[in-house]
Amino acid sequence: MTRLMLGRTLERICKAVLLLCLVHFVIMMILYFDVYSQRFDQIFSRFNNGRNASRSGHHYYYNLSRPNATYASYLATADQLLPTVRPEGNHTPPTTKPIPPCPEIPPGLVGRLLIEFASQMTMERVQKENPNVTEGGKYTPPDCRAKQKVAIIIPFRHRDNHLKYWLHYLHPILRRQKIDYGIYIITQLGEETFNRAKLLNVGYTEALKDAEYDCFIFSDVDLIPMDDRNLYHCYDQPRHFAIAMDKFGFRLPYAGYFGGVSGLSKKQFLKINGFPNEYWGWGGEDDDIYNRITLNGMKVVRPDVRIGRYRMIKHERDKHNEPNPQRFNKIQNTKNTMKRDGISTLTYRVLQFKKYPLYTNISVEIGKPPPRPFRG
Ligand SMILES: *[C@@H]1O[C@H](CO)[C@@H](O)[C@H](O)[C@H]1NC(C)=O
Ligand SMILES: *[C@@H]1O[C@H](CO)[C@@H](O)[C@H](O)[C@H]1NC(C)=O
Ligand SMILES: *[C@@H]1O[C@H](CO)[C@@H](O)[C@H](O)[C@H]1NC(C)=O
Ligand SMILES: *[C@@H]1O[C@H](CO)[C@@H](O)[C@H](O)[C@H]1NC(C)=O
Ligand SMILES: *[C@@H]1O[C@H](CO)[C@@H](O)[C@H](O)[C@H]1NC(C)=O
Repeated sequence: MTRLMLGRTLERICKAVLLLCLVHFVIMMILYFDVYSQRFDQIFSRFNNGRNASRSGHHYYYNLSRPNATYASYLATADQLLPTVRPEGNHTPPTTKPIPPCPEIPPGLVGRLLIEFASQMTMERVQKENPNVTEGGKYTPPDCRAKQKVAIIIPFRHRDNHLKYWLHYLHPILRRQKIDYGIYIITQLGEETFNRAKLLNVGYTEALKDAEYDCFIFSDVDLIPMDDRNLYHCYDQPRHFAIAMDKFGFRLPYAGYFGGVSGLSKKQFLKINGFPNEYWGWGGEDDDIYNRITLNGMKVVRPDVRIGRYRMIKHERDKHNEPNPQRFNKIQNTKNTMKRDGISTLTYRVLQFKKYPLYTNISVEIGKPPPRPFRG
């Protein structure tokens, strides 16, 4: 009798323990998925007003292995969703600025945008639309602390009309994205052959003289993003933003394409010795930059193809920017040329550094292409 009772009791205890384990496991799973799914739900309910939800949010970058900073902000967001999970203790943070860090995913984004170039655009109008942009085209989010300071560099010559549209569309987008930024127009003076990559090197150097930037976004003046989820800041790898342009049928023209709009942190930029200075005329410099990135053990990251869409302002091919016939040979040689041609060997002369309400205009002389090798 007693033995039987003992057996039963033991059995019950075992069952209870098992049940407890199971309950524990289930709760852990629920908590685990809750955090992630709520994050994704949040992203997609906000981003997919009416459209089909996509299934992954992997293009957003959280580095959970990073001590404190990222994880803390991650927890901070998770906190609002899961009030029961709090970091142990209830230490009040040391009294610093009351302003919180900017959220990884800014809450005011609207997603897909309507971009058109039919309406007349004037600088006065764009200025009125953007009263909070300060002299030189700078903006700092008033309600949160951005993690990065971003310089946006635009190589430029004779494209004043395009610039108006660019400013009209980009200032509000960047503001919604909670980017702490400054806009730098690098104007190539004179009528020599255009040199996009060298102007970008100049932009990097001059922007750093103006403020302590840690991220650089290089954009052509005629490219407008069609979706504000394409966040203009730097990532853990060099970023290519303009992956789906209307002129290429909203597809990447080839796998190694790095043209249009790209972004590198200061560290990434220095690792590849900046951009080449010796690509005169249209084409090739972006492929050279792509080569520099891969040759230095980095890889290019891109947004989702639905988000990285761009509209290009239609225009005639510029004068003095004819396709560079040497570009195919040159990009074969990046490995040999990148150490001796780059930010370390950049020479130029600034003739004017002028701050306008919506941008800073830096006018430079960058020289001219070397004489063509004579062939008899
Ligand atoms: C959206 O989902 C519906 C049904 O779930 C499907 O028929 C449609 O093709 C989807 N549209 C897109 C753009 O994915
Ligand atoms: C994550 O952060 C750590 C520490 O800052 C860094 O060493 C690591 O490279 C980062 N990983 C990625 C994928 O960015
Ligand atoms: C992370 O937080 C701990 C305590 O909360 C602190 O001791 C440590 O210095 C922090 N590390 C970094 C990199 O901020
Ligand atoms: C400009 O800043 C003021 C004060 O912070 C704010 O009330 C206003 O809404 C802002 N305007 C725009 C267009 O962002
Ligand atoms: C920048 O300044 C130069 C003259 O120094 C001028 O030719 C050019 O149009 C200006 N560009 C812009 C966008 O203001």
